[in-house]
Amino acid sequence: MMFHSIGFIGTGHMGGALARAAAKGEGGNPIYLANRSPEKAKKLARELDCKVADNHTVARHCDLIFLGVKPQIMERVLKDLAPILKERTDRFVLASMAAGLSASTIQAMAGGAYPVIRLMPNTPVAVGAGVIQYCGLDTTAEELEAFRTLMAPAGLVDEINEDLCDAASAVSGCGPAFCALFVEALADGGVACGLPRDKALAYTAQTLKGAAKLMLETGIHPGDMKDGVCSPGGTTIQGIRVLEEQGFRAAAMKAVIAAYEKTLSFEHKG
Ligand SMILES: NC(=O)c1ccc[n+]([C@@H]2O[C@H](COP(=O)([O-])OP(=O)(O)OC[C@H]3O[C@@H](n4cnc5c(N)ncnc54)[C@H](OP(=O)(O)O)[C@@H]3O)[C@@H](O)[C@H]2O)c1
Repeated sequence: MMFHSIGFIGTGHMGGALARAAAKGEGGNPIYLANRSPEKAKKLARELDCKVADNHTVARHCDLIFLGVKPQIMERVLKDLAPILKERTDRFVLASMAAGLSASTIQAMAGGAYPVIRLMPNTPVAVGAGVIQYCGLDTTAEELEAFRTLMAPAGLVDEINEDLCDAASAVSGCGPAFCALFVEALADGGVACGLPRDKALAYTAQTLKGAAKLMLETGIHPGDMKDGVCSPGGTTIQGIRVLEEQGFRAAAMKAVIAAYEKTLSFEHKG
């Protein structure tokens, strides 16, 4: 592992989930956690056997610095850190997970052409079944490889061109919310048909997980998977008919496109 000390600034939902993955993927070097309300960092540090720090300490000492604050406050946080980063003579990498902020925007906010990894994680990284797309700006191949190894316990870690980050984010970053809506709706249907709520939710979530696992492990096309369940004249095709009548596919496509367009509007405000 080429990163000797790893730091997190902002250990909320996403920063915390990535710190969990890093604690598993890290080869024994220290991980420092800094958060505005320090109790959150302390609690996580106890759980992961990491060290608690403040933002300035992380900026001064860590050679991989995850920025886990909301995009709206990134500029303020980096402005505060810029003088500390400027004083450093050693090499370090900034890793930003902020939706809609380009790697060059992070460099501009940090006040220098420092190496930046822009990553796009989703919430299932918390259970090792997430997706992280990433791209580097002024990084070396070794740094990107070390990052990939560090993040491997989070799930699928995939390098993409930065111009695809927003599209990827609209699919896998927002996707858990879209899937949650689908699960809740299917479970509601089950409840309407008499299933207890807890069973309806458990059956639905497991079905989604199983269908995804089957697709990933066998490479079956979703159309073929659907056809495999729809017996001629049977029950499932009647459900499919209703989903098509109600514009299910169009709604799902438009949801991704709407999220993508919203991300672009953040970037243009930049
Ligand atoms: N959630 C997602 O699904 C998702 C997906 C992809 C990317 N992201 C990105 O992940 C980033 C974090 O989002 P989130 O959902 O994890 O939000 P979050 O749960 O609100 O976490 C943000 C954390 O930043 C801390 N913070 C705020 N100001 C700080 C400061 N000045 N110094 C240090 N820490 C500070 C907050 O501390 P307090 O405890 O004091 O509030 C909070 O713990 C965002 O940039 C977002 O775009 C999120």
